[in-house]
Amino acid sequence: MGKQRAFSGVQPTGNLHLGNYLGAIRNWVEGQSQYENFFCVVDLHAITAPHNPATLASDTYTIAALYLACGIDLEYSKIFVQSHVSAHSELTWLFNCITPINWLTDMIQFKEKAVRQGENVNTGLLDYPVLMAADILLYQADKVPVGEDQKQHLELTRDIADRFNYQFAKGKPPILKVPDPLIRKEGARVMSLMDGTKKMSKSDPAEGSRINLLDPPDVIQKKIKRCKTDMERGLTFDDPERPECNNLLGLYMILSGKTKEAVAEEGQDMGWGQFKPLLTETMIEALKPIQEKYQAVMTDKGYLESVLRDGREAAEAIANETLNQVKAALGYSMPL
Ligand code: TRP
Repeated sequence: MGKQRAFSGVQPTGNLHLGNYLGAIRNWVEGQSQYENFFCVVDLHAITAPHNPATLASDTYTIAALYLACGIDLEYSKIFVQSHVSAHSELTWLFNCITPINWLTDMIQFKEKAVRQGENVNTGLLDYPVLMAADILLYQADKVPVGEDQKQHLELTRDIADRFNYQFAKGKPPILKVPDPLIRKEGARVMSLMDGTKKMSKSDPAEGSRINLLDPPDVIQKKIKRCKTDMERGLTFDDPERPECNNLLGLYMILSGKTKEAVAEEGQDMGWGQFKPLLTETMIEALKPIQEKYQAVMTDKGYLESVLRDGREAAEAIANETLNQVKAALGYSMPL
């Protein structure tokens, strides 16, 4: 028996932050030897919000380099760019025509983003989850390691696969594999540094609300110094009145590698003035190896290009095979 296949991706919008890393990429790295992995930089998704053509390509390379810097190992994993494999766009169109519109208008993330983008809501934003379903289903992925916020998108992916198999492969072996999400509870939700009830997010206009993986030590120090806390002394987990405290202690726990019990004990008599420098130091140390590896990868562009070329070739072989099966099931003639 071969290994199961895992697929996941991140958008190349700006820099990766701690929430992306702890909620998703760290889990990809930890589980990677168990699976045959495809990690994609989803640059087609990136244009569903207003974007800057002058930085799209370099942002895409940054994310690919960060995958490597975070510990994605090419022995187990392929890294590639979504727009380099045209099957993603093509399967999206075919899926569009079997996906009821209300499945998309009902999606929580669409509704939230539509409110935020105001006048700038394009059809691609509505269609975003269909493209994501195409990403995953093209590779017949068994597992999709993602953050908690992507759960609904995974359910839609499963619904599209079921619907396609039911409508176009009835009574035959299913054409599309129905994938399972892989969501880890711990670290799955990193909250904003300025509001412990809101997720840390790339789209938050306040730069001080997040720690980017490439933030230098002085920036990390400044952000922690200014982050929101409360007036109480003694730090505790899981107090609903103290969401910031829970978030910062949780970050410290994960980044230091200590257990929850150990951190609870360490923090019980601490004030913020003592805790903040400790968290700052721990964060700087935890991000240092990632930042060093990133610099090393970025100095050798030829290497990064060869990684992406190799990833594209492997991805394309599988994606085109699935696409052809889907087209045949829909009744298309094959090009001569
Ligand atoms: N929507 C995902 C996110 O914002 C990114 C994504 C696009 C993705 N395609 C995917 C994740 C396929 C997993 C699998 O995090």
